[in-house]
Amino acid sequence: MTVTIKPTTIALLATFGLALAAVAADLPPASAKTGVTYATDIKPIFDNSCVKCHSGDKPKAHLKLDSLENALKGGKDGKVLTAGDSAKSLIVKCVAHATSDPDSWMPPPHNRANIGPLTPEQIGLIRAWIDQGAK
Ligand code: HEC
Repeated sequence: MTVTIKPTTIALLATFGLALAAVAADLPPASAKTGVTYATDIKPIFDNSCVKCHSGDKPKAHLKLDSLENALKGGKDGKVLTAGDSAKSLIVKCVAHATSDPDSWMPPPHNRANIGPLTPEQIGLIRAWIDQGAK
């Protein structure tokens, strides 16, 4: 029996493979820095790239990132980080574009405020902060 593979099948498989690769995208490694805290390392990053939308009376996704307490509280769907496990933390997946839904990529690509993506170094610091207990 001969199996004929149509070009459309190949195209479908290729698309599926690409989608899988995108979901499984490696996260930037956690920074090797020790003693990472919200106050010293994370607040400057959030102030620059996040609080425009995640603070005030109507924070996007009901998530405020303007204080450690608020960041730990989370948003409309609950907590956005798991202290001790940055790879499983939603906030890391969002900034690393590792969620399957691009609507969760943060900051949103092409946002009107023109806030660009975080660098791998910044993501590494956020990972180290979470891995070290999110203090
Ligand atoms: C220009 C506005 C804007 C900026 C800047 C921004 N966000 Fe968001 N954020 C949003 C919006 C809008 C949503 C809701 C997205 C949705 O529900 O589809 C959101 C949702 C989220 C969520 C929840 C995602 C989910 O699926 O529940 C997290 C976590 C988050 N943002 C983190 C961040 C972080 C960290 C930064 C900074 C690095 C940031 N955001 C910067 C607008 C912004």
